[in-house]
Amino acid sequence: MENSGLNKTEEGDRIFFWPSEEIKQKACVNSSEVYDQAEKDPVAFWEDLASKGIAWFSKWEKAYEEKIPDFKWFIGAETNAAYNCLDRHLNDKGDKTALIWIPEIKEEEAKKYSYRQLYEEVNKAANVLKSLGVKKGDVVTIYLPMIPEIIISVLACARIGAVHSVVFSAYSAEALNTRLKDGGSEVMITSDGYYRKGKIEDLKKKANEGIQDTNVKKVLVVKRTGNETEITEKDLWWHEQLEKADNECEAVKMKSEDLLFLLYTSGTTGKPKGVMHDTGGYITQAYWTSKWDFDLHEDDVMWCTSDLGWVTGHSYVCYGPLLNGITTVLFEGLIDWPNPERPWEIIEEHKISVFYTAPTALRLMMSHGKEIPEKFGLESLRVLGSVGECIDQKTWLWYLNSVGKGKCPLIDTWWQTETGGTMINSLPGVGPFIPAWAGNSFPGTRHTIIDEEGNEVIKTGEQGYLVQKSPFAPGLLRGVWKNPERFKKTYWRNDKYYFSGDGAYRDDGGRFRIIGRLDDVLKVAGHRMSTGEMENVIDKHAAVNEAAVIGKPDELRGEVPVAFVITKGEIDDKERLEKELQDMIVKGIGPIAKLKGFYFVESLPKTRSGKIMRRILKSLIKGEEVGDISTLQNPESVEKLKEIIKG
Ligand code: WT7
Repeated sequence: MENSGLNKTEEGDRIFFWPSEEIKQKACVNSSEVYDQAEKDPVAFWEDLASKGIAWFSKWEKAYEEKIPDFKWFIGAETNAAYNCLDRHLNDKGDKTALIWIPEIKEEEAKKYSYRQLYEEVNKAANVLKSLGVKKGDVVTIYLPMIPEIIISVLACARIGAVHSVVFSAYSAEALNTRLKDGGSEVMITSDGYYRKGKIEDLKKKANEGIQDTNVKKVLVVKRTGNETEITEKDLWWHEQLEKADNECEAVKMKSEDLLFLLYTSGTTGKPKGVMHDTGGYITQAYWTSKWDFDLHEDDVMWCTSDLGWVTGHSYVCYGPLLNGITTVLFEGLIDWPNPERPWEIIEEHKISVFYTAPTALRLMMSHGKEIPEKFGLESLRVLGSVGECIDQKTWLWYLNSVGKGKCPLIDTWWQTETGGTMINSLPGVGPFIPAWAGNSFPGTRHTIIDEEGNEVIKTGEQGYLVQKSPFAPGLLRGVWKNPERFKKTYWRNDKYYFSGDGAYRDDGGRFRIIGRLDDVLKVAGHRMSTGEMENVIDKHAAVNEAAVIGKPDELRGEVPVAFVITKGEIDDKERLEKELQDMIVKGIGPIAKLKGFYFVESLPKTRSGKIMRRILKSLIKGEEVGDISTLQNPESVEKLKEIIKG
């Protein structure tokens, strides 16, 4: 299909790209009227979307209720997320490909599942979970790599009303242990191993360690690599269990407000939070944000590169595409292994039409030179998306031109684990697409900017805290698992706003430009990490008195963590200590949290009340002016730090 491309206008120092008439004509949404209509009555708007997009077993008595920090959608209504992803499509698209799985190793063949096959696998897995005693409301932890069984497990849980808690497979045994303990799972699903750069990673070894001192009684083990690994009396082989299981399993009627999943994410303290997502609101939002953001049509093949361990994988690899009945791609490997041609080969071979990835991946692809994507036929691409961190203009333009050949709408989607689905971005048939600007709030949601006191900053261009206003989006988190206090304290301001933790400003079209986190949360290669969590690990070392971790700007990864460490007395072997601390980080969290620099210091800048001033450390590491330091407890520390950083 010829795609006539984008139109271009300029406004001040910004470039605006607009969808062509041709794109508009075919788009699900092609006029900004939808925003106005939604704004008039957001609740009625979502009610309409929920009726049209989701199959309900029974209707709601009331659409919305709110008493901050609690709010509810589609009260009393019943549905099931797996039913909506699978059963609904069986009649007219039972044979259509639901899932294409692409293994890391090229010699291994891609595997396709039709909607019917996926349905049957999910039913079998659901029956196995039931046979292990899993009931509605029980938390099942899924510690799997990017293999089809991760999607099958997620949907099997949803089918029987069990709450899935996916733990990223590259997280360490200790990180798994913390999440298992907090979630209280009695059943876990894992695999013997997986491939990473052609080598086998022994996932089972970490799983065995991770379940120590938890409630886990049974572990289902998928055979992925066939490596030798220790099998315990708790283990059951996935394939043996599924073989015996029936391929019919009734989908449990779930109240809209019943929990669908937990997903742990990093906050500002050391302990990860179990973000709670409900059923009806979440799937309504997953359905419509997928459809409208990526302009999904019947024959689309969507590749979202995120791991299922993150919310992006939940909403745009699994739920969103399957709810819409399109084909989703699950890729086991890394974007640049065994060579930088890999992503383009995949797009060409599988005729990907929607590509959704992160700036850090784009910067990596871009670093290999523009000749690489040029070698491939990428004309199947129709819509491009970015997520996870701020995308700079250079990367944005490269994505638009070298990947999309200047013809595909490029949407920069701002959202969070907590929001469940995208919240701020342009729509492909509406535009504009502006480098580094996310765009407007999704129809039916309202965002604004407040200052320290909680007043709305209305002036164009003025920076502040990005917040969401009532009525809160159907997919927004409903709580922090076992910690209502933390839910209230972290996310709600002035009994009025959902607090995102990000900074932003607006233009006079109400479009948002995101600045990034204003708290102690890092985004390293798009992964969310808590400096507190890393500090807790480092503090455990016998030679360490105190540590502060901050983010240092990095060309490829956005930012990387570096540590300032105060040791107990003199240390003789700095290199050894660095290595020990690094090992502790890998063991405590995982290789993604590896530190990219250590500064051994005598003191850290502190307020009179003893709080470490990270703002000053950040300025120092960037070589910026530190500003007024007269209120510090130890202003003299700053000069010394400057020397140490200079090296
Ligand atoms: C944080 C949430 C939501 C899916 C993946 C990340 C940052 C996310 C953007 C964007 C600038 C972004 C924010 C946010 N972020 N998307 N388009 N532009 N920043 O989910 O791990 O919960 O991280 O990612 O700082 O708060 P997450």
